[in-house]
Amino acid sequence: MPVADKVEQVRQQASEIARSAATPDELMQKMVKLLHERMLKYNWVGFYMLEPGANPPVLVLGAFEGAMTPHVRIPLNQGICGAAASSGQTVVVDDVSKDPRYLACSLETKSEIVVPVFVRGKVVGELDIDSHFPAAFTAEHQELVQYCAILVGKKLESSGR
Ligand code: SME
Repeated sequence: MPVADKVEQVRQQASEIARSAATPDELMQKMVKLLHERMLKYNWVGFYMLEPGANPPVLVLGAFEGAMTPHVRIPLNQGICGAAASSGQTVVVDDVSKDPRYLACSLETKSEIVVPVFVRGKVVGELDIDSHFPAAFTAEHQELVQYCAILVGKKLESSGR
């Protein structure tokens, strides 16, 4: 299947999950499973959420699929994850070995994307995906992952968060 068709199919499945999930936690669990199962180069998929009230702020591992990571709590001044949350920008790294910010999760990881999740304009967490393939996150993948992050932000908003 061409990548554009696959991306469109998974996008629709993500929308369907967002419609049917009763809570943001259920959506995040189902979303990581969907992306990990359907997108063959998404070898680790997980959410990090800002701990409410933490000072200094810290990202805490939430729903994920893939091998357990040593990075369960990440301060905002560390890692690709910290960079995405503190800037509020999507960060794509085509070759993690060349990025000094990178915190290793698996030795097999070659590329990574981190997309912030917003609630009412504020970063509340992020969707992090690692690939065993270099430069896996081309423009169409970035759009898909950003779309998924928006679905989660909307669900959090409608749940009153
Ligand atoms: N690589 C991330 C850490 C999280 S693990 O990839 C799951 C980073 O550099 O922030």
